[in-house]
Amino acid sequence: MPAKKEEFSVTPYEVKGKIDYERLREQFGTQSITPELLAKLHHIAGGELPPALARGIYYSHRDLPALLDGYANGKPFFLYSGRGPSGPLHTSHLLQFQLCQWFQKRLGVPMYIQITDDEKFWSSKTGIPREETTRWGYENLADILALGFDPKRTFTFFDSRSIAAMYPLAVRVARKVNYSTVKAVFGFTPSTNIGLVFYTALQTVPAFWPSWAEGRAVPCLIPCGIDQDPHFRISRDLAEGMGYPKPALLHSQMVPGLLGDSVMSTTGDRSDNALFLNDGPKVVERKVRNAFTGGRATVEEQRRLGAVPEVCSIWALWRTQFAETETKFAEVTEGCRSGRLLCGECKSQLLERVHRFYREHEVARDRAKTWAESTIITAAPKAL
Ligand code: TRP
Repeated sequence: MPAKKEEFSVTPYEVKGKIDYERLREQFGTQSITPELLAKLHHIAGGELPPALARGIYYSHRDLPALLDGYANGKPFFLYSGRGPSGPLHTSHLLQFQLCQWFQKRLGVPMYIQITDDEKFWSSKTGIPREETTRWGYENLADILALGFDPKRTFTFFDSRSIAAMYPLAVRVARKVNYSTVKAVFGFTPSTNIGLVFYTALQTVPAFWPSWAEGRAVPCLIPCGIDQDPHFRISRDLAEGMGYPKPALLHSQMVPGLLGDSVMSTTGDRSDNALFLNDGPKVVERKVRNAFTGGRATVEEQRRLGAVPEVCSIWALWRTQFAETETKFAEVTEGCRSGRLLCGECKSQLLERVHRFYREHEVARDRAKTWAESTIITAAPKAL
């Protein structure tokens, strides 16, 4: 009898069960990232691929090869990604933006960031006040810009501030999306508030906006967590009928939590599951020291049998963001598997890098705050 497959489900509003990423990719009907595709990317962008791409954290896509071929043939694209602000960002929220920043630096392309302070007010299960989502929106935006985005080529849709600029296009998008579609795609129930029913139209807007504003087809690439794919299936279904290119997508896996959860979610009483960007050094140290690892019960056993990186939340941090070179990543992985590198030492080495990142990030964030406002789009480009 075949083993019963573990159940899981992933929507933008809920991740349940232990995710089997390959099966999820098949369910969503997306393409896998092949070595040939990575080689093409490498060829076009030059330099080293960012860790999250080289190590398979970005593992799925839609229409990426065509977008890259277009770029190589003189058809530049723009990047689009976003964040729903409900509190401080944690390190894994930076993943999609670090990739965008790499693309911008290598290829000089524009970046559009969406800060959805409306979405998080509508979707929050804990009832976060409206003013709070906006306040966190500004904080999150500064953290994102601090990753090294180019002030001249970076633009923000801050939903509650940019609505006048977005609305003419949102109206047209909303006209084409049926209730039965959003109900099926997002799993809405009769008690879902109507803000959320409309919201997906706003998440599509930035993908079409440059084409609409410039009156010509501008291709779009959206790096995002695979949980956001359902929104963009809707965008892609509408695109051609509305005269815009279908956005291409690059999907990442979710980063596992420090407590051993399959996602670094901090909903409820799980604040130790993630490293928040506003955690002080002592808190960061405590969270890392207490984190779930793949280590053995005793040192003797670990020296003899080695540990298991694949289940370890600390290894996940090395893999996604903190091992700066492939050599360092291999050293940590092999040290762990062979029993040479014990968990305490591994955590110390990681902490050194995390602390350094926090120190540098703080300076960069203060600087970004001086120009964040200038990126916010407030006016529609043309008559309604
Ligand atoms: N819905 C996303 C969130 O909850 C925010 C978001 C808006 C986004 N536009 C996006 C994420 C584009 C990725 C790509 O955080």
